[in-house]
Amino acid sequence: MSNRADCIDIGSENCPCYLALTGDCLVCSRLQGREDCDCDWKGVCVYNEFIQGNKKVNNPRKDHPVKIVFKKYYLDDLVVLGLLVGKGFAIKAGRPGSYIFLRAGTGESFYAAPLCVMEADIEAGIIAVAIKIISAKTKALAEAEDSLMVRGIYRNGILGIGSLTSMLKTGKKVLIVAKGIGLAPAILAANYLWQKNRVDLVIDTEKISEDLMSDYLHEGEGIIRFLSLNEESHCLDLGDILQKEQYDLVVLLTSDHFLEKIGKIVKERLPNTWLAVSNNFRICCGEGICGSCTTAAAGGEVIRMCKCNTPPDYL
Ligand SMILES: Cc1cc2nc3c(=O)[nH]c(=O)nc-3n(C[C@H](O)[C@H](O)[C@H](O)COP(=O)(O)OP(=O)(O)OC[C@H]3O[C@@H](n4cnc5c(N)ncnc54)[C@H](O)[C@@H]3O)c2cc1C
Ligand code: FES
Repeated sequence: MSNRADCIDIGSENCPCYLALTGDCLVCSRLQGREDCDCDWKGVCVYNEFIQGNKKVNNPRKDHPVKIVFKKYYLDDLVVLGLLVGKGFAIKAGRPGSYIFLRAGTGESFYAAPLCVMEADIEAGIIAVAIKIISAKTKALAEAEDSLMVRGIYRNGILGIGSLTSMLKTGKKVLIVAKGIGLAPAILAANYLWQKNRVDLVIDTEKISEDLMSDYLHEGEGIIRFLSLNEESHCLDLGDILQKEQYDLVVLLTSDHFLEKIGKIVKERLPNTWLAVSNNFRICCGEGICGSCTTAAAGGEVIRMCKCNTPPDYL
């Protein structure tokens, strides 16, 4: 396994993880079975933590029941659930890119669906998730009335998140482009970044709920534009906006089709701008074990995209 891919959990309360047990840590060459240390991780030594911690997984994430405190339909197939998770969980959930696994308490574990956090109300200890109802897993979630099983927090909902979280310290210019359910992570990211930055939003007009935006999107410095990303003329407009505004960071929260299409426009118009994108890989365990999210990186090595926060360019 390569050291090039950053692990989203490194140095966190969930490190060392299950991959340390099997000699598959993404970062630590010693935990990969080698004698030498060649990682460039600047934080607390993962190997040392593992040995000192009696070779155990640190804080393994477990399913636990949470109360549904509100439920509101915004479209026929779009429902928002409020979950009473407690303050500690809500604090961790407020970081952009956070997601959880959610399933009905009566359902088997394979019903668990990854869902981005849209809002984290730390005072109340409540998080909100927006669910696009499609098939078995999301239908089961939408039917729940009283409680659900939650597992998390997981952190890798946005690839290239490092460029985004470092923005909190600075007065930068950010563009977030969201389409469909990508609006949920876009709302969390915009509200977070608005604390200290200018954030413009481009929101695709197809099947959006204005009520959802007015309920969850805060106010901040920046312009909100509505475009149809399916229309070539609107994509040209987006290119002109990029050129004019010279953003420091562009965050694309769309399907893979639009990541590719708009990613190309961003690279043409702003080749040196940081790019972060939604993690659209099939994510089932979130722990680097099941293999559903694996992909071959540019160098040919297999990487697990639930754990690797690999910048989009590398893929
Ligand atoms: C990090 C992450 C965050 C997500 N956040 C949200 C969110 O905030 N709101 C939301 O409505 N949806 C979100 N999704 C997508 C959501 O998990 C899927 O729509 C859901 O699992 C579909 O299950 P289903 O049984 O209803 O439909 P299915 O018919 O099983 O799937 C519908 C579509 O979702 C894809 N899908 C199914 N299972 C997964 C999976 N485990 N991981 C990724 N894609 C899957 C399928 O390939 C298909 O394209 C997110 C996915 C990921 C990976
Ligand atoms: S989702 Fe299981 S290995 Fe990544």
